[in-house]
Amino acid sequence: MSGRKLFLAAAVIFLVAAGLFAKWILHDGLSARATPSWLETLAARKARHLSIPRGAQDQKNPVADSAETQRDARLHFADHCAVCHGNDGGGDTMMGHGLYPKPPDLRGEHTQKLSDGELFWIIENGVRFTGMPAFGGANGHGSQTDSWKLVRFIRHLPQLTVEERMEMERYNPKGPEEREEEKQEDDFFNGAAPQPSTGMEHHHH
Ligand code: HEC
Repeated sequence: MSGRKLFLAAAVIFLVAAGLFAKWILHDGLSARATPSWLETLAARKARHLSIPRGAQDQKNPVADSAETQRDARLHFADHCAVCHGNDGGGDTMMGHGLYPKPPDLRGEHTQKLSDGELFWIIENGVRFTGMPAFGGANGHGSQTDSWKLVRFIRHLPQLTVEERMEMERYNPKGPEEREEEKQEDDFFNGAAPQPSTGMEHHHH
């Protein structure tokens, strides 16, 4: 084969490969409703792992585990994390289903196998190109102590009790309708007179 033919053959192979690669990356028209392929997930997790500095991954949790630590973290998680991850960490939420990649089941092996330092780093810095926000720094939700407490809570997630989950539900962010409904329930249980209807209530969907 002449050099010219060889060059043409190589160019054709390259173009076909580039086309297939683009098709693979652009699957489902870039819709976030899709689920990443296993190869994409593997590559993303590996890249994330490599991007987190060694020293950060080896950090030990400076916050001791206690009933108080767990309660603080639980209510914090209910308020800031459950919209996407769900109170039980399963990720079965409206937000979660609409994200690409989806939030993984935090009770599962792939999360539980990450080191404490790695979990802390992810909470503080977020994960680029995903829906996972950074909670550290100026945009933060609190102190680094709060993030370390959340690491303790993530370790506890596989053993979360029904009572703990029900407590969390009261701390999930709520719209005005739900808040009003809860207030009426509370008033009812406290023996207060029922609120007169304002005719302004909306129907639930
Ligand atoms: C807006 C949605 C959203 C919110 C809010 C959110 N997360 Fe995430 N989280 C994600 C997504 C999406 C991923 C998957 C990222 C990836 O694939 O690397 C993720 C990944 C993680 C991971 C890594 C799990 C793993 O196995 O890779 C941890 C840990 C985590 N989140 C903890 C938290 C905590 C703690 C909070 C609250 C302080 C929180 N997240 C709030 C969307 C969210």
